[in-house]
Amino acid sequence: MMQNEKMSILFVCLGNICRSPLAEGVFRDIVTANGAQDRFHIDSAGTGNWHRGNPPDRRSVEVAGRYGIDLSGLRARQVTRGDFDRFDLLLGMDGDNVAALAELAPPGRQDRIAQFHEFSTGVPRDVPDPYYGGEDGFETVYRLIRAAAGSLFEKLAAETRGVSG
Ligand code: 4NP
Repeated sequence: MMQNEKMSILFVCLGNICRSPLAEGVFRDIVTANGAQDRFHIDSAGTGNWHRGNPPDRRSVEVAGRYGIDLSGLRARQVTRGDFDRFDLLLGMDGDNVAALAELAPPGRQDRIAQFHEFSTGVPRDVPDPYYGGEDGFETVYRLIRAAAGSLFEKLAAETRGVSG
């Protein structure tokens, strides 16, 4: 990434209706709270296409809403090979997501893929799929994402600040 350019980040899960929309919304909230919205382009996508065009899962919308984040305008889409050109970083929520990204990536683009929690905090850990669980799974996932997204912002903010600060 060039200095003073926007850093672009794609959060990736399986369906793009539970975890990655939460990560997108939470990270955007942190970026905005820090006045850094001009320095990041943020999006999310799924490795699968079952939910294409759908809004996030009601339980993700609800948990985010409790923390003042509105996910209702987001719509699911599937990751494409072109995303590996458009995004500096593609962050998979779990090991399966990372493996699917690695399969899809064009030659020379593997280095843009990382596991979200490990890249953000240094601690390798899956963000577990909450889809088939209860409401409390979404609260757990929210907290895990919130903590890691804070670390991610700290890590990337220095890189995107550029020479003039
Ligand atoms: P997500 O959760 O990957 O966090 O969006 C899922 C959503 C839907 C399905 C699986 C996981 N599904 O199998 O339909």
